[in-house]
Amino acid sequence: MELIDGKAVAAQIKLEIAEEVKQIIASGGKRPHLAAVLVGHDGGSETYVASKVRTCEEVGFKSTLIRYEDDVTEAELLDKVIELNNDPDVDGFIVQLPLPKHISEQKVIETIDYRKDVDGFHPINVGRMSIGLLCFVSATPAGIIELLKRYEIPTAGKNCVVLGRSNIVGKPIANLMMQKAYPGDATVTVCHSRTPNIKEICQQADIIIAALGVPEFLKADMVKDGAVVIDVGTTRVPSTETKSGFRLKGDVKFDEVAPKCSYISPVPGGVGPMTIISLMKNTLLAGKKSIY
Ligand code: GUN
Repeated sequence: MELIDGKAVAAQIKLEIAEEVKQIIASGGKRPHLAAVLVGHDGGSETYVASKVRTCEEVGFKSTLIRYEDDVTEAELLDKVIELNNDPDVDGFIVQLPLPKHISEQKVIETIDYRKDVDGFHPINVGRMSIGLLCFVSATPAGIIELLKRYEIPTAGKNCVVLGRSNIVGKPIANLMMQKAYPGDATVTVCHSRTPNIKEICQQADIIIAALGVPEFLKADMVKDGAVVIDVGTTRVPSTETKSGFRLKGDVKFDEVAPKCSYISPVPGGVGPMTIISLMKNTLLAGKKSIY
């Protein structure tokens, strides 16, 4: 069993991005600028956005954090999105999800200029991704693809089972795994809450990507010997052992599944660090105006 060390891979890519930023600046180019909009005080969102801003600094990007209270109106938020669309200094920006119930997330996403949509959530980017065109690919699926690539894990002709059908992870990673490409060229099955025989389907899988958000869902008796398991789960559970008072739990019962795997990504330290690094890669693309 080999552990997929997302933390180490992310650290390596961070150095690569920092080096490229240095070269851009040395040749008189503009420092890439990421803006992040955060609404309210959701603990998870606060942590993720703080981490995104910190990583910007580490790779040499400019970053701007724009905060609103929970009671911001949809109109105010949409005005800010339009302002960011039109601000030539901002190369790319994100609006951290989830948003309060009175604001339409879809309306916000569709108001973002797709050329600045470094989250890859705009329908133009989603559509381009699904037909294999150059675009902003959303960060978590892009991070998973990068891990498979860097560990040279074979995917062509493999049975890949995706657990979960979210717009942010399940749907895009299923799409990428079936693309005529490496990583990709897999036979993909997507399972979700209405799939009756998940256990039997998982038992046939060469690669399982677990993105259900159900802690320790994937058990040893669902996994065949030699399978590759990618754990995308990040459920926050209370803990007395950490400073923050919580810890992250994956969708995989790691201790019993890991011994059966050829490769497995842990939580934390697997997909998580890659997600932020993928956002940085997209910001670099945005800075270079590669997507138009
Ligand atoms: N909420 C959970 N994941 C994400 C993400 O990748 N981007 C944004 N904007 N919000 C999120």
